[in-house]
Amino acid sequence: MKHTVCLIPGDGIGPEVARAARLVVDASGAEINWLELAAGAGAVAKYGDVLPQETLEAIQRYQVALKGPVTTPIGGGFKSVNVQLRKKLNLYAAVRPVRSMPGIQTRYDNVELVVIRENTEGLYSGIENEVTEGVVTSLKVTTRKACERIARFAFRYAHERGRKKVTVFHKANIMKMTDGLFLECARAVRTAEAPDIEYNELIIDNGCMQLVKDPSQFDMLLLENLYGDMVSDLCAGLVGGLGVVPGANIGDTCAVFEAVHGSAPDIAGKNVANPLALIMSAVMMLNYLGETAAAERIKNAYNHVLGRRRLEDLTPDIGGRGTTKTFTEAVIRAMNG
Ligand code: NAI
Repeated sequence: MKHTVCLIPGDGIGPEVARAARLVVDASGAEINWLELAAGAGAVAKYGDVLPQETLEAIQRYQVALKGPVTTPIGGGFKSVNVQLRKKLNLYAAVRPVRSMPGIQTRYDNVELVVIRENTEGLYSGIENEVTEGVVTSLKVTTRKACERIARFAFRYAHERGRKKVTVFHKANIMKMTDGLFLECARAVRTAEAPDIEYNELIIDNGCMQLVKDPSQFDMLLLENLYGDMVSDLCAGLVGGLGVVPGANIGDTCAVFEAVHGSAPDIAGKNVANPLALIMSAVMMLNYLGETAAAERIKNAYNHVLGRRRLEDLTPDIGGRGTTKTFTEAVIRAMNG
């Protein structure tokens, strides 16, 4: 069956890695009708908007998107496109699998965990105020509805994927009401719907220390929005960096697949960005679409390319001497060979 997928190249390294992912998916045998759409700083010139209505409506209509990163200005300027997209499409669960990869040497070779991040509220609600000159506030919004929904998603995911343990990172010793509610909902959902799944809670500062000391003790992490954002990057650092960690933003009707990394302005336009994270996100997307054979083909191909470690194939972030293009071509050759 032919699927229509919205492709948002995005900003910075986005167009380079999106092109790579598209080429790899097209070579996998999956039949995709790509609908290219604009979002991010680059969309402003043509649409006068960082998140054009046309883009939103297309994702609502076709329900699946593969998205490159978009730039968000710091300390002012327009609101994050990602935050808007996740809220408007109700993409409440971010799923970020983090695993040790063949041929990528890091301090650990036994990481196999999934970060589940609540994607719609917390401090990302963007409700900020200047109370008086020199005094500003940011409101952390936590609702029972969103906490229960993400907890239910996490435990269902554990059941579906044969995962054994969920650990919540929190700061409910300080944010007693907001993080307290997050914990209360996680405990209640676990008791009612997943008593067979091991469950524990760690104050996030200790959790981060435990993660870098021995990541193999974790299976699934469940976190509110801001903690999930930060801990995802920390986890990426355990397995080789942002170039190798994929992600999905899932809602009840739509799903947007994107890497954890940002638009990497420091390397944009240089043909050195690692496209693997977005290729892996595309594999998650193909599995979501039921294109499991194509997904498996791509996965085997990149594992093969990584495992044989020809430096001219690999991008510099994972110790290679190659480019975005050489890695993409090597993966496609491995699929065809
Ligand atoms: P970043 O993830 O873009 O880059 C952090 C570091 O990792 C940089 O040194 C970069 O070169 C490297 N890196 C990232 N992806 C890589 C890849 N595929 N291959 C090789 N190296 C890679 O984070 P940064 O610099 O904090 O943010 C840059 C912009 O991206 C900001 O405007 C930020 O708001 C945006 N951003 C967008 C995201 C999204 O669209 N999903 C997610 C995170 C940040």
